[in-house]
Amino acid sequence: MGYMPIRRFAMPDIHFGPGCRANAGRQAKALGMTKAILVTDPGVRAQSWMKEILDSLKKAGVAFIVYDAVSPNPRESEVREAVKRYRRESCDGILSVGGGSPMDCAKGLGIMISEKRDVLEFRGIDLVENRLPPMVFIPSTAGTASEVSQFSIILDSAEHVKIAIVSGKIIPNVALVDPETTSTVSPDLVAATGMDVLVHAVEAYASSSHSDLTDLHALQAVRLVAAHLGERFRNPEDRIARNGMMMASMHAGLAFSNGMLGAVHAMAHSLGGLLDLPHGECNAILLPHVVDFNYDAESERYDTIGHLLGVPTGIRKEDGKAALMDEIRGMQRVVGMDHGLAAVGVKTSDIPDLARKSREDPCLLTNPKACLESDLQLLFKSAM
Ligand SMILES: [Fe+2]
Repeated sequence: MGYMPIRRFAMPDIHFGPGCRANAGRQAKALGMTKAILVTDPGVRAQSWMKEILDSLKKAGVAFIVYDAVSPNPRESEVREAVKRYRRESCDGILSVGGGSPMDCAKGLGIMISEKRDVLEFRGIDLVENRLPPMVFIPSTAGTASEVSQFSIILDSAEHVKIAIVSGKIIPNVALVDPETTSTVSPDLVAATGMDVLVHAVEAYASSSHSDLTDLHALQAVRLVAAHLGERFRNPEDRIARNGMMMASMHAGLAFSNGMLGAVHAMAHSLGGLLDLPHGECNAILLPHVVDFNYDAESERYDTIGHLLGVPTGIRKEDGKAALMDEIRGMQRVVGMDHGLAAVGVKTSDIPDLARKSREDPCLLTNPKACLESDLQLLFKSAM
């Protein structure tokens, strides 16, 4: 190793393993919560496995109210409404159970409570100064890994843009990573969230701010996705694959939270903001196009990913890119995500706006190759 920049690696206190959601009450109490707001969504709230979480709160003597008015791309108005509920009910802590949407909304809530300013004022990196209320997060998808990350993505509904808030202050105190919560996820969501995990790992590994620690987690995530995503999609009852994808999500989350992302996420955020499209599916569609664009800037790193995905070692150097692209396309086919952006409703006339918004996304700053607005337009075109 030659030049070594100073890097930081931040993470919550992580508990993982089947059944660990039942620690929610004890952990909330240990953090001093007496009355929590449980931020979730209606689909998650109705799941049978919620019982152990709610029972554990009762057992620990932590009172709670439920806030579940959260959309798939959470909006600033939903964060503001959660703040009102939190204050009206004199809550003193935040519990979030769900996919990325409730968890990101919960982080926005925590920011507004501690900073006493609107959530949209925190777009960007390291703008949160105060400590947030105590937070215990339980993910219910193997995807966004918001439970371990310093990211919150909120939709600014007036501007039709998804803003990224990045701050070490918004990492939850405790993450309870319990694969049993993903037992009820539909195959479509397994596919979209699973591809999101792969994109987190690939973008963090190729990112210009990767480090030794983020590399470790990124590569482990790629290994686990390669081993488990296909089976997880085909066979929802397979516990080994379910556990494997939950661990993949956590590793990829640790990698990208500390090593940052790249052009796929910058572009996916603009698709989510302008057209309200699902995050994981956007990433799944965009990945091969961005890898094609970026490959030359980090060919050795992309080759390493290629080998973990199944490219045979000993392949000629000049064939590495095509082989990696084949593996990614193969994975898209396995989970039924091999369509283009036109199939999800993107029109050619949307591209100039999409490219302009992607240019402003902070994820683009760590893409391994400089990416101009004209490049982004070409990438969107090729992904149609
Ligand atoms: Fe993502």
